[in-house]
Amino acid sequence: MADANLGRLRLVLWAAVVVAALGASVIYLTRGTDEAAASGIGGGTYSLVDHNGNTVDQTMLVGQPSLLFFGFTHCPDVCPTTMAEMQLWFQQLGEEADDLQGVFVSVDPLRDTPDVIKGYVSFVSDRMIGVTGAQEEIDKIVAAWRVLAEKVPLDGEDYTMNHTASVFLVNDQGEFEGTISYGETVEVAIDKIRKLVTNTAS
Ligand code: NI
Repeated sequence: MADANLGRLRLVLWAAVVVAALGASVIYLTRGTDEAAASGIGGGTYSLVDHNGNTVDQTMLVGQPSLLFFGFTHCPDVCPTTMAEMQLWFQQLGEEADDLQGVFVSVDPLRDTPDVIKGYVSFVSDRMIGVTGAQEEIDKIVAAWRVLAEKVPLDGEDYTMNHTASVFLVNDQGEFEGTISYGETVEVAIDKIRKLVTNTAS
């Protein structure tokens, strides 16, 4: 190899090292500041309808911390249990969680009209909103939050839905902060919500 070629090769290798180092530092800098993006959960854009028939979009999760849950009103067990637990959390937190909102997103918009979900969420808390809409828009929020939602046929025309059972803790920027698992104790759940509300108090 001629000296000139060797010199060019060294230059190329050095350039590769510099580019790799810059790339690593960018990853290092963004990881700490944007865990939500790193986790890949949340975000997205969509246009849906709330329980009063008003149009809502991704900004419904901005401006206050939220407990975000995906379910359906025909659910025999997980959803009614979770709604009852949410009601309890709101009651126990009282004024501490004045700013907190609950968001129930239907994964069964065919049956869950705004009227149906209104009756369903209204007993939980007046700080609870129900969200439904066109299937393709529901698909967008479901995909953004990496939620499992699949139709399971039953006898005849009937069907049920398999769906993610966790409640998402969402900060006032609409970013994913963590989850409350199905069946978690009231103490642990309340503790997590307190942290969410305290950390995002603005
Ligand atoms: Ni359910």
